[in-house]
Amino acid sequence: MNLFVLTGAGCSAESGLGTFRDTDGVWARFDPMKLATPEGFAADPDLVQAFYNARRRNTRAASPNAAHFALARLEAALERRGGSLFLCTQNIDDLHERAGSHNVVHMHGELLRARCLQCGAASPWQDDIGGDDVCPACRAAGTLRPHVVWFGEMPLYMHEIHDALEEADLFVAIGTSGSVYPAAGFVAAARQLGIRTCELNLDPSDNAGYFDERFYGPASETVPAWAGRLTAGPDAVV
Ligand code: OAD
Repeated sequence: MNLFVLTGAGCSAESGLGTFRDTDGVWARFDPMKLATPEGFAADPDLVQAFYNARRRNTRAASPNAAHFALARLEAALERRGGSLFLCTQNIDDLHERAGSHNVVHMHGELLRARCLQCGAASPWQDDIGGDDVCPACRAAGTLRPHVVWFGEMPLYMHEIHDALEEADLFVAIGTSGSVYPAAGFVAAARQLGIRTCELNLDPSDNAGYFDERFYGPASETVPAWAGRLTAGPDAVV
């Protein structure tokens, strides 16, 4: 079986990293137009760097939860049986990788990389980005920004994502509100391709009607239970 998994902020919520659109979410407390657009960065780079520097510190302090570990175990189980798990995350944290997932693409970028506005390299970056920091790739100074996709910018890895969707037997969305495109459109694309679809979320998402199967509750409980059913017991499909 080839599984396509799309994760969103709800997958990392129980690791202490906030979601965006819940009542206490990031975009309820901060203005995305000032903090998550190229125009906002041009107007006040220090403010934007400070916001992402704080999020980078939070990410480094966080740990993967049971949902991340269940997806890593599922990837290994599928690969042992000749299948695959393509993990497309909207999250910019590294919790999937730290849980042991290998086949991960970050369509909205990665907090633990800094991108150079001069040479375009996205270099590993653990600490705060400062105004005078030097690009590890081209040695230019003062040219680094967070390697994060902002509103109005093109998400990353779209070719790989389309290829993986075409090969998939099952599409699963975990912890995403289904309100940000293009990711929000993947479930409709999967249906058009004749792929079964499944949603795991705290509450029904904006796209709930598109899913063949739906399971609601905290990801730390629903994801291990669902992954367990997929790989063991009478309903196992792999
Ligand atoms: P949202 O904040 O829009 O949605 C998070 C979803 O997770 C909601 O549907 C919640 O009900 C659900 N949720 C919350 N806690 C959960 C839990 N413990 N278990 C399971 N589900 C839970 O976040 P995303 O859909 O990821 O983009 O948002 C998509 C994009 O919008 C983000 O990648 C970000 C944001 O603006 C950029 O910054 C480019």
